[in-house]
Amino acid sequence: MNLANKRYYPPGRYPEGWYLVEIARNLPKGGLLQKEWMGRQIVAWRDAEGRICVSEAYCPHLGGHLGPDGGGCVRNGRLVCPFHGFEYDATGRCVATPNAPPPRTARLTVYETRELNGLILAWWSPVGREPQWELPEWPDKEWHRLHYGSVRLRGHPQETAENSVDIAHFRYVHGYAAVKQVGDVQVDGAYLCNRFVFRRNVKLLGLPVLTDVAATTHVWGLGYSFVEFHERVSGLKLRQWILSTPIDDTHIKLVVALQIRRWEPGQKWLATLLLRCLPANWLTRFFVSRVKHDVRQDVAIWENKRYQPLPILSRSDGEIMTYRKYCEQFYPDAEESRARVRSLKPAPIHAARGARLGA
Ligand code: FES
Ligand SMILES: [Fe+2]
Repeated sequence: MNLANKRYYPPGRYPEGWYLVEIARNLPKGGLLQKEWMGRQIVAWRDAEGRICVSEAYCPHLGGHLGPDGGGCVRNGRLVCPFHGFEYDATGRCVATPNAPPPRTARLTVYETRELNGLILAWWSPVGREPQWELPEWPDKEWHRLHYGSVRLRGHPQETAENSVDIAHFRYVHGYAAVKQVGDVQVDGAYLCNRFVFRRNVKLLGLPVLTDVAATTHVWGLGYSFVEFHERVSGLKLRQWILSTPIDDTHIKLVVALQIRRWEPGQKWLATLLLRCLPANWLTRFFVSRVKHDVRQDVAIWENKRYQPLPILSRSDGEIMTYRKYCEQFYPDAEESRARVRSLKPAPIHAARGARLGA
């Protein structure tokens, strides 16, 4: 085997955490969808009261697939198996069958679910642990409708989330200028926060709409990052979720969802002009298109890179190793490999042999 060409990944393929299942408005009452998620088939459905159930897609009776492709459906607030008609409620319990009392042990394997800010997320643990932390609900009365884009790619959620502390790549890959970290990366359990500023030259109708930006990234695990942007020239405020979810052993789905803050009293004239004169959906879609452009640049790197457990870092790299240490907690099944990583020597800071992406 040519080891030089082997690609490496972080310690586990499916790190513990909250992962996106679907944008909430895509799952209306009575709706049912299926997907590949964390290397398995799942279904998500919503009953008439709006309760959501996310579970394994296979019926515990004789293995019928409960998703729309398999013939499953939601009827009278229950998920009905297409094979022999067993019916499940939103807790996953079998509550009826066509010809006999429901077997007491017939129960779907369900995942703990949260619906927050228009997103449906479910908890994944490789060792079957209960949720280890909660995600925040961000107030959203003052924000316009969420728009989003998605891409499927070869990659790992630890690698995509690493971008939020990888200050050097903003310059080299995305061409941002004057990128500067503000303060240290803050870590508190499953929460990581990083602040940075940068300059860009994004114009809309000849007006500078993204030129001088302050960003605050809030990370809760490897599947959920939330970034607040404040554009300091126009006064516009944006926020976006970066949601990275393993599909299978190789691929992830990356969803970027974005919102613009509504006009508020005292806002700068440029933000006022944009928010008063342009349809909010149009403006949001414009920013989503910019994000997609940036993500395409990242994808080219992610799809071809390999995980470097002991990176040779330069002074301009930001706090990559703080982030790597933070990530260890999401692999409760990988004690051995965590111990191995801990026993490795810390990455040397070496200004002359720079970062892989340049600095
Ligand atoms: S396999 Fe689902 S009811 Fe028989
Ligand atoms: Fe990036």
